[in-house]
Amino acid sequence: MKPWVVKDKFIPRGRINFPGDKSIAHRALILSALSKGKSIINNFPLHDDSLATLYALETLGVKIQRSGQQLLIWGRGGLGLKRPKKSIFVNNSGTTLRLLCGLLSGQNFKSKLTVGKYLKQRPMARVNIPLRLMGAKISAKKIGRQEYPPLNICGQKLHGISYFSPVASAQVKGAILLAGLSARGKTEVRELLLTRDHTERMLKVFGANLSVKKNKITLTPGRELISPGKIYIPGDISSAAFFMVLTTIIPGSRIIMQKVSLNPGRLGIIKLLKRMGADIKIEIIRAQSLKNFEPLGNLIVKSSKLKGVNVSKGEIPFVIDELPILMVAACFAKGRTTIHGANELRVKETDRINSMVSNLKSMQAQIQVHKISGQENIVIQGQGWLCGAKLKSCGDHRTAMSMIVAALAARGESELDDVNCINKSFPGFLDTLGGLRKQ
Ligand code: S3P
Repeated sequence: MKPWVVKDKFIPRGRINFPGDKSIAHRALILSALSKGKSIINNFPLHDDSLATLYALETLGVKIQRSGQQLLIWGRGGLGLKRPKKSIFVNNSGTTLRLLCGLLSGQNFKSKLTVGKYLKQRPMARVNIPLRLMGAKISAKKIGRQEYPPLNICGQKLHGISYFSPVASAQVKGAILLAGLSARGKTEVRELLLTRDHTERMLKVFGANLSVKKNKITLTPGRELISPGKIYIPGDISSAAFFMVLTTIIPGSRIIMQKVSLNPGRLGIIKLLKRMGADIKIEIIRAQSLKNFEPLGNLIVKSSKLKGVNVSKGEIPFVIDELPILMVAACFAKGRTTIHGANELRVKETDRINSMVSNLKSMQAQIQVHKISGQENIVIQGQGWLCGAKLKSCGDHRTAMSMIVAALAARGESELDDVNCINKSFPGFLDTLGGLRKQ
């Protein structure tokens, strides 16, 4: 554990380029591995989660050459993955685990997926159930009706299904679509609430036969995936979110965030912060050279006064990873913020309702959780300030970064017990912060 102390405050100013988007990076890697031809991925983020997917694919026989943030991948084609000689360790990357579970279910070999400490508690039935309907043979650790890793997968010839996902999860959708690539017949996925569409976009870029109509995605297998050659991964908006809030709540701040992903399914944080009164300007980039299969742009953020807002259940998937930092923004706003139906936060790297509520309470925030007919609503009475305190990361990168932002804007000193967990998604976070002092 590596602690961090916040004593001196500063007014953040400057320009930031963020490492590539984590969700897009996983999909770019996996489809490059499954396709015909060589792929060059630029702005690949070198954090624990994306590297977990990279190492997993290497264990499956994929040749990958790394030079800084550029990857060169030699695709092995749809059925070209090799039986792994050892179990595949995915560290604490939930997206790697769930996407690979779908992918490996349809391969012609056995595999075992093992995980790190924080992934052991994350539910897998949401993925295993639809995959078994496709004919997958997956065994997991069972506790009651729920299933947890490690997973043993006995690859099978799968068949397509028509599935209505009761959980709003892009990981579940992604796992089913990846399984559908090698299945017999069409695979259809319908979503109760729309989730980020990176799998669908990436499949189209690689030439898959995929159609999207409202909330229904149809994948017809049989077409060989062909690499588009070069893939540029826009900056991660989930990482940028910490800096959007930092800039907004510290008076006099101004930051330009360059080449950030503007995928419509990820814009929740910008929309909500704007609704709260944030000053965020978007400059869309349309450079052909970047092969914009995923929209991207620059964000110009200036400090401003915030007011409380209502976040509806339908908005949750668009802001799921940004809810911790949104809670911090709500504490610095004036008035009440209610986040409706935030239950999914319970099953992230840690229980993020617990981690954020207990940390913010220790900073004297007025924050409560109300459970109404199974829905967990977080209510924050914004006071416009927080007080320094002893804070805990709970092993969770997003709790840690949110609390650092809170501590930088709070009155007095704070201490956070661990910053190592930040390596999961943003190893350069503290250096990026440091850079804003000097500019
Ligand atoms: C992700 C989807 C989300 C998100 C996670 C990344 C993805 O999880 O929280 O950080 O890349 O598909 P769920 O799909 O479980 O909501």
